[in-house]
Amino acid sequence: MANVAVIGAQWGDEGKGKIVDWLAERADVVVRFQGGHNAGHTLVIGGTTYKLSLLPSGIVRGTPSVIGNGVVLDPWALKAEVTRLREQGVEVTPDTLMIADNCALILPFHRDLDGLREDASGAGKIGTTRRGIGPAYEDKVGRRAIRVCDLAHLDDLDPQLDRLSAHHDALRAGFGEPPIDRAALLAELKEIAGFVLPYARPVWHMLNAARAAGKRILFEGAQGVLLDIDHGTYPFVTSSNTIAGTAAGGSGLGPSAVGFVLGIAKAYTTRVGSGPFPTELHDEIGTRLGERGHEFGTVTGRKRRCGWFDAVLVRQSVAVSGVTGIALTKLDVLDGFETVKICTGYRLNGETLDHFPAHAADQAAVEPVYEEVEGWSQSTAGARSWADLPAQAIKYIRRVEELIQCPVALVSTSPERDDTILVRDPFAD
Ligand code: GDP
Ligand code: IMO
Ligand code: MG
Repeated sequence: MANVAVIGAQWGDEGKGKIVDWLAERADVVVRFQGGHNAGHTLVIGGTTYKLSLLPSGIVRGTPSVIGNGVVLDPWALKAEVTRLREQGVEVTPDTLMIADNCALILPFHRDLDGLREDASGAGKIGTTRRGIGPAYEDKVGRRAIRVCDLAHLDDLDPQLDRLSAHHDALRAGFGEPPIDRAALLAELKEIAGFVLPYARPVWHMLNAARAAGKRILFEGAQGVLLDIDHGTYPFVTSSNTIAGTAAGGSGLGPSAVGFVLGIAKAYTTRVGSGPFPTELHDEIGTRLGERGHEFGTVTGRKRRCGWFDAVLVRQSVAVSGVTGIALTKLDVLDGFETVKICTGYRLNGETLDHFPAHAADQAAVEPVYEEVEGWSQSTAGARSWADLPAQAIKYIRRVEELIQCPVALVSTSPERDDTILVRDPFAD
């Protein structure tokens, strides 16, 4: 029996939330291990939609849910999300939600700085979610962060505030902004501490005990491998490692705690924000994918860029993240295309490449090499078994498996929880 890590194998929004919710039925605990409320994970259950940004997707089923130490936590965003979910009838209590006491906080000036930098960058902007993710991780690595456990010691915060002021006041001055207002910040922290602290605990302790007791742990990644700070399309990436290797370190478990790595990939490709995207389509096919797939960002509402499936990129994600099996989502969006294209390699300066080069200029310059396969006219929407799929769709899946060098473990055919085809049970491995 394996613990399962779910990670995005493209640029995010692959359908991780849907798959985590589906798998959570058989999990004992669900853990977020990186990112923050830049994530937007959508669950659709019996026609009701739930949008989660910071809370693990297990919370909707009532599966104990953990925010691990690798996450950057905006306590005000947490409160807003908990309030919203409670209004939808989801129970959130210290028995169902546990937050690592060593999580770094996203503070209001992180959000400000994210926006100020983006506004100042003009055409070179990253297109971040403006949630303060990058600045908060910078402060964590810079050893200046205020952490969840500090909320219980707000009278002893002067050394951290000194370090934060020394760093941020200079940056803020450069943008014509006033220094950090320490009194106002402390007052805000005092107010929110009472909300956060009941959920705070050494989650590593609980998770290690769960592991020792043979419980099933489901790790929920955010973003995708191509947004990984090391392996992604740098600098157009997020500020954390999104690969499966982070699951253990971001939750306080050893590396052998992760068994099955389930990479989530759309049957085509999307990206929100700036950066290279070799198979992007600027024509009516791209528009059709966006419309059929309802490709608008969950967090920011931005239109997602759309293109054909890029097997080179997903093969690379499979390799750097050690993916055991793929969940191929949104197959139904490809219904009705006469032919479907798959990118199998790139051309760069007259040479053929079988991988995505590291340099930003090369990433922007590669030209996709396509293979065209037959499409299918029948609907796959809502299919729940392999037998419901048209032969051409099965052929497409088989070709994708071959090209990415990884088997498909699940296929998703609509936003609804149960419109899912199980090929190989990740927990049974
Ligand atoms: P995540 O960030 O990886 O959890 O993905 P998002 O929730 O941001 O985006 C995925 C979108 O596709 C959501 O609106 C889902 O409801 C929807 N979705 C997930 N799986 C499928 C599927 O198989 N078919 C269709 N048509 N939509 C899906
Ligand atoms: P989920 O978990 C898609 C993108 C942003 C931007 C870049 C950096 O829903 O798949 P950041 O705010 O993290 O500094 O932005 O990363 N981005 C995402 N794109 N899905 C996400 O999360 C994303 N989280 C961040 O659009 O390009
Ligand atoms: Mg999303």
